[in-house]
Amino acid sequence: MKIQVFDSSHDVAEALADRVACAIRQQPALVLGLPTGRTPIRTYERLRRMHADLQFDATRLTTFNLDEFAGIDRSHPGSFRAFMEAQLFAPLRLRPDQIHFLDGMAADADAECARYEAAIEAAGGIDLQIVGIGANGHIGFNEPADTLQARTHRVTLADSTRRDNAGLFGGDAAQVPREALSMGMGTILKARALALIATGERKAPCIEQAMRGPVTTRLPASFLQLHPNVELYLDRAAASRL
Ligand code: GLP
Repeated sequence: MKIQVFDSSHDVAEALADRVACAIRQQPALVLGLPTGRTPIRTYERLRRMHADLQFDATRLTTFNLDEFAGIDRSHPGSFRAFMEAQLFAPLRLRPDQIHFLDGMAADADAECARYEAAIEAAGGIDLQIVGIGANGHIGFNEPADTLQARTHRVTLADSTRRDNAGLFGGDAAQVPREALSMGMGTILKARALALIATGERKAPCIEQAMRGPVTTRLPASFLQLHPNVELYLDRAAASRL
């Protein structure tokens, strides 16, 4: 595990954006896995600027997002799809065929999850998967539980996760869907490289437990210990307990 600690969240964003741009320059047809959440916003901001400065070419890029809420359409302002469109897809002028997303409105969730797994396979697997971490140690929407499902599946969101995502729904946790579709930890661990981004003191306990504690379904992020190629991008606050 390559742990990198930076002075500020700004420096974390710069380093991760540089890592992504470098990977795209080396491999223009990169298959890139993307997270949502507040943490990657500055990274996406820097990627937008780098793209505008012609520092990388995104025309051959393929993206897969980790997860999406169930029961809301992609046009809903709270959807992860809408978030990604604004943060990255539109500014980088990605074509629809470059973007892969779970459809939270799919009538048959199991079929939708199977479709997503097949699409990842057909793309040749994910080269670089960026992940954030929930304060409860979730990755994507793999919530702490007695058992985890390996592949893309429908999940019930923890109340704390719904509160954490309230910002996308006008600050009202009651408006946050109760369910979502998410890549499984097995799907995520199949990526050739993983980059975990975490900033702020609130993430320090789960970063410590995930990296130093036992591998347990009660802290899905701990499964990252099993991957041979994980890079951690942390600010001093998130790394304070390591
Ligand atoms: C959501 C996403 C996760 C993300 C988490 C952390 O729950 N499903 O993929 O890691 O938010 O969000 P934040 O970066 O806002 O702390």
